[in-house]
Formats: sequence, C-alpha cells, structure tokens
Amino acid sequence: MTSQLNIVILAAGKGTRMYSDLPKVLHPLAGKSLLGHVLDTARSLRPTRLCVVYGYGGAVVPNALAAQDIIWAEQQEQLGTGHAVQQALPHLDPSGMTLVLYGDVPLTRLSTLQRLLEHAGSDKLAVLTAHFADPSGYGRMVRTAGKVTRIVEQKDATEAERAITEINTGIIVAPSAKLSQWLAKLSNNNAQGEYYLTDTIAMAVADGLEIATAHPHHEWEVLGVNSKLQLAQLERIYQRNYAEQLAGTGTHIIDPARLDVRGELICGRDVVIDVNCVFEGRVTLGDRVSIGANCVLKDVTVAQGTKIQPFTHIEDASVGADCRIGPFARIRPGTTLASDAHIGNFVEIKNSQIDSGSKVNHLSYVGDATVGKNVNIGAGTITCNYDGANKHRTIIEDGVFIGSDTQLVAPVTVCKGATIGAGTTLTRNAPAGELTLSRVKQMTISGWQRPTKK
Ligand code: UD1
Ligand code: CA
Repeated sequence: MTSQLNIVILAAGKGTRMYSDLPKVLHPLAGKSLLGHVLDTARSLRPTRLCVVYGYGGAVVPNALAAQDIIWAEQQEQLGTGHAVQQALPHLDPSGMTLVLYGDVPLTRLSTLQRLLEHAGSDKLAVLTAHFADPSGYGRMVRTAGKVTRIVEQKDATEAERAITEINTGIIVAPSAKLSQWLAKLSNNNAQGEYYLTDTIAMAVADGLEIATAHPHHEWEVLGVNSKLQLAQLERIYQRNYAEQLAGTGTHIIDPARLDVRGELICGRDVVIDVNCVFEGRVTLGDRVSIGANCVLKDVTVAQGTKIQPFTHIEDASVGADCRIGPFARIRPGTTLASDAHIGNFVEIKNSQIDSGSKVNHLSYVGDATVGKNVNIGAGTITCNYDGANKHRTIIEDGVFIGSDTQLVAPVTVCKGATIGAGTTLTRNAPAGELTLSRVKQMTISGWQRPTKK
C-alpha cells in the first residue's frame, strides 16, 4: 500500500425505492446517516484526499455532513458510476491509489478494506468481490483461466455470464493516474446507457495490469440499502453485532436481539441490560449497573451499583453510584444525581442537582432545583419554577422533609432541616429546623346533610 490514498465515496443517487424526500445516504442506521458510517470507515484509513460525489438533493447532503476534511464534488446528472468517479478526478492526487466506496453500503469493515488495499498497487487493480447464492442484479466477475478479464453488468450479460456467482461489490482500488485515463475512454454504449466504472477493468487488463480480488468475511459488509426494508435489515445486523461484542466482553444482555445502541455504549463489569432498551449518544454504565426493560438513555453517565427500573427515560444527565431510579421515571437534561439518590415512579426531574441520600419517590416534578443531602420529598410535590416568562430556582437544603402535595413557588429556599407540612403552597423562604405550613384550618360542620336527588 502506498502512502497517497484518495477515497471517493459515491453518493449522488436518488434512492427511488426509498420513497422518501430525504436523499438515500442521509437515512439513519443506528442513529447515524448511511454516508456518516462510510465516512467514518474511510477516515480510519487516513486518506490524503476524501471526496464525496453528491447529486440528488443538491446541497442537502453536503450541508448535513459538512466537515473540513471532505471535498464535495457535484454530479449534476446521474450518468453512471464511471461518470460519478470522473466528477471527483479533478480533486484527487494523481499519484498513489484511489479507493471507490458507495455511500449506501454502510457496514464494510475497516479490516476488509485494508486487505483490499494490500492487494492493489501501481500495476495492480483490486476489486472486492463475493460469491452470492443469488447473484441477480449485480455485476459478474468474468474470469478466463482463473484471471479476471472484465466485469459484465446483469443487464448486459449473456445467459452463461448470468450463471456466474462471483459478484462485483462495487468497491475497487486502482492506481489514480491510470484510472483517470481509463475513465476518459468510457462509453455509454450499453443496456443502461450509462458510463460504467466497471468497464475500466477490461481496460486495465488491456494495459497489462493484473486484477486482484479480495473478499469480505461477511456478506452484510457489502450489502447496500435500496429500500426501507433493507435499511431495517442492516440495522438489525448492526445491532446484533454490537450486542454480541458487548456480551463478548462481559455485559449481560438479556436478549441480544432486543438491544438498540444509536451511538456508543460503554459498560463496566457485571452490567445487566434487560430487553428493549435504547441507548443514544454516549452512554457510560459503571460496574454492576442494571437497566430494566424498556428504558431509553441518551448521553448519560451512570455510576456503579445503580439500578434503573423499567420504562425510565434519562437524557443528558449524570447519575451517581447506588441510586435507584424508576420504574416510570423521567430525568431531563442538566440533572445530576449524587450517590444513593432514589427517584421513583412518575417523577420528573429537570435541570436539578440532587445530593446523596435524597429521595423523590412518587409523582413529583422537580425542576431548576438544588436539593441537599438526605432530603425527603413527599408524593405530589411540585416546584413551580416558571412564572410564565422566566425560570426560577428552588433551593432545598440538607435534611429537609417536604410533606406531600406541596408547591414550592420559586425563587424560594427551604433552609436546613426544615419540615414543610403536607399541602403547603410555599411562597416565602422556610426557616431552618422549623415546621412551616400554609393550610386552611380544618373544620367540621356538624349535622350537615348531603343534598339528595329530587
Ligand atoms: C453497481 C455496479 C455493479 C455492482 C453493484 C454493487 C457499475 C456499472 N455497476 O451497480 O457491478 O455489482 O454496483 O451494488 O458500477 N451512483 C452515483 N452516480 C451515478 C450512479 C450511481 O453516485 O451516476 C452511486 C449510487 O448512489 C450508489 C452507487 O453509486 O451509491 C452504485 O450505484 P447503483 O446504481 O446502485 O449501481 P448498480 O447498478 O447497482
Ligand atoms: Ca446498487
């Protein structure tokens, strides 16, 4: 492998069979666009030039994936794969090699591409090929005395050629200068009226180059997305691989077929994840963390020993050690829970810091609050943090006990060790160590009768 490597990613196609307004390569797989996956793999090869050929959707694709290291080449009309690579040529380094990838083939492994690159050289063109039980639709590798002589497209193939099961995955590596000479000679005199990149193979043979082939270890590495069904199928393959990798390093995934990671999931030792959980962004789970069924966690750090019970939703938050959360809890952005905090069912916490040993166990809303240590917040407590125009903070100091059905009208402070009686609407600060309550005095009207129906 030489040091100069151009990578061209073909991404101009419309994806008619997606039946979508979104260009095909922007459809997400595991939370990242198809083209995003290909770009990440391409970047791992450290190319000197990285060029994406775009077309359908115009600037939508470059805008969605704009990055310093990408050269965007527009292909205004989709006249074929050869024509597409031609659009990239002016941007490429003519010395060294050019690797062609497809923006709609997301799961090719880095090691496979590295193997392919090792097969190529200044006098050798390399094609990634595979043997498919059903090769229909693909270009076929035509060999004479064992050597590849050309590629024939399905629509141009004879009956005998269609029987060939070795297919062209579309991924090739060629010496850049020669590739540009061959592309200049392409014609569209074929069944589809397109400029075929695959026609460069026969030209290379005519120029005395050897055609090497390499193969992926798995068929899914070279599968493209042409429909929503194929997108879903590749999603499952990706998720299954991710689950198997986690399980292989000690995470107990109760059912590897029911895990979805749309980003990165980092697990400590003896982590258990029950079925149907979705992890988005970057999620880190410490040792012995357990996640119940049907939880959704996005950009969350959970420290060791914490138990998250079913149907909990946590986003952009940090959870300390040995906490107990859920079932049915919602923890919203900007929240930090220290160790040993308990957040129970139907509790919503937003942009709040809750210190160690504190409990909000039932049916409460705690927003824009600073809660100290060993605080107990009773059922149905609400921080009234929003006055219709601005948000205000509620401060609850260490050791406070808030009775059930309390409204804390922010800005307000409940000082250390205070007790708030049930049903209080707190509008002024509550002094430390005292019982504060606002409540209409209870009375009994003796002899009162319920009305009866006339
Ligand atoms: C191509 C190959 C075929 C191979 C198959 C593998 C050619 C002529 N044929 O066929 O041998 O078996 O891929 O899937 O190369 N694209 C552009 N601009 C264009 C045309 C295509 O950017 O003008 C992009 C598409 O968006 C797609 C990729 O190139 O990502 C492949 O195009 P597609 O039309 O799917 O090629 P096939 O006809 O399937
Ligand atoms: Ca295709």
